[in-house]
Parts: sequence; C-alpha cells; structure tokens
Amino acid sequence: MSDPVANKPFTITPGHRAVRSFVLRQGRFTPAQQRAFDVLWPRFGLDYLGAPRDLDAAFGRNAPRVLEIGFGNGEALRHAAASDKDRDYIGVEVHAPGVGRLLNGLGEDGSDHVRLYHHDAMEVLQHEIADGALDEVRIYFPDPWHKKRHRKRRLIQPEFAALLVRKLRPDGLLHLATDWERYAEQMWEVLDATPGLRNQAGPRGHVPRPAWRLETHFERRGLKLGHGVRDLLYQRIGIPETVPIPASAASATPEP
Ligand SMILES: C[S@@+](CC[C@H](N)C(=O)[O-])C[C@H]1O[C@@H](n2cnc3c(N)ncnc32)[C@H](O)[C@@H]1O
Repeated sequence: MSDPVANKPFTITPGHRAVRSFVLRQGRFTPAQQRAFDVLWPRFGLDYLGAPRDLDAAFGRNAPRVLEIGFGNGEALRHAAASDKDRDYIGVEVHAPGVGRLLNGLGEDGSDHVRLYHHDAMEVLQHEIADGALDEVRIYFPDPWHKKRHRKRRLIQPEFAALLVRKLRPDGLLHLATDWERYAEQMWEVLDATPGLRNQAGPRGHVPRPAWRLETHFERRGLKLGHGVRDLLYQRIGIPETVPIPASAASATPEP
C-alpha cells in the first residue's frame, strides 16, 4: 500500500524551530482527502518555497486579500469565501486531513479566488507574504494550550503580533475568536499593547460574532462544554513616531 504522507505536498520542515504552536496529529487521512491533494492541489495549493510570493500571479489578479491562520476543517473559510468573491482568500493549515477537506469543498464551490498553504503560518508570514499585503487576518479558535508549561506555544505572543501588524495594510483588520477565557485574557494583554493595533471594542473589549462568521468545529465543541465565545477585532493603525524627525534631518543625505 502506498504511504499517503509521501503522496501529498507535506511541507513541514522538521526540527528547525524550538517552539511551535502545533503538534502534528496522526488524524485519519481518507482516500477522498488523498484524491483532493492529487487532483485539486495544483489548482488551489501553494507550495511553500520560503521566498517572497507574487500573489497577483498566484491569483491571476490584484485584489484585497484575507488570510485565515489554522483553518482546521476550513468550514468558516469556505463559507466566507463563497460569499466574498471580490477579495482573495489565503488559508494556512498544518493538519493534512483539514486541508484535504477544504480542497474538496473549494472544488465543489468553484472558489478559484482561494489558495491554501499546507505549512506553518509563522514561516509563511515571515518568508512569503509582503509587508502590507493583507486586508484582513483571521485566527479562529487557535489552540489554547491549557497547561502552564505549554503557554509559550500559544500563537498570540508579542513577536507574532508585531509580525501581523507588518503584514496588514493600513486600516486592515485582525479578527480572532476564542472560547478559552484565559486565552482571551492573553490576547488582550498582548494585542491591546501592540503598537499599530487598536481594539475596535476599546481596551479589553470584544465584539458580537458577525453573522457571516460560520460557527466552527472547535467553537461548537467549546459551546458544548459551556464556554463563552469571544470575538476580538483589531484595526491596523499608524504607529506614532515617538521622536519626530526634524525637517532638516529628514532631508539630509544619509551617512555612508
Ligand atoms: C483548535 S484548532 C481550530 C481550527 C478551526 N479554526 C476551528 O475553529 O475549528 C487550531 C488549528 O490551528 C492549526 N495551527 C496551529 N498552529 C498553526 C500554525 N503555526 N500554522 C498553521 N496552522 C496552525 C492547527 O493545526 C489546528 O487545526
């Protein structure tokens, strides 16, 4: 029998980053998902190259772009993209069965304005996405890493927040959702303090779930456990200059 892992564009480079926000689970990888990789990856997939990506070429147009990190099974991304064809969608996920499922969904919908990476979002952002290239970033129900010793694995940390700010266009949006109270606290602590981001609901505030955000698999799981769900919405604002540059210095020839 062929090894399914060998047949898919699995681009996780092992052992080169100390702390990761995910562990690769051995989920059930079905023949339908394998077929999706074989047939639909060339249409919707972006192989991670580790070099700046020409997104206009990848999408065949220049349009505002939405990035969803850790889309899981992809139901929220599929739903949002189907009713928002004027913007391009980029999904990034490391869990192969989820990528396979979404590939099948995109094929059914004919959503040719969606592209997927099967890779670590941190590396995709660092190496493939240009600064200011994104209209919106979405992170729904990131792994909460409950145990104290695992908290360093949480995606929302100051360095990652600064990276997101760089990748958003001015006035672009960062939308997060979580059902884990203490992760919401961490999001506020980190993001409310990140230069270049403004919490749209005020400090430590949250917004109602927008009607277009489909309830996700992990959200339903949280709700069944009695968890409250919070949506957090931030806007990319100008980073104020702490020291104004005098006109004479700004126009001076830089030192060699
Ligand atoms: C708790 S699940 C939530 C999935 C989905 N958003 C939902 O709400 O059902 C978190 C997902 O993020 C993915 N993930 C975690 N860290 C990631 C990273 N650095 N790059 C890409 N995906 C990541 C995991 O594989 C997992 O599928």
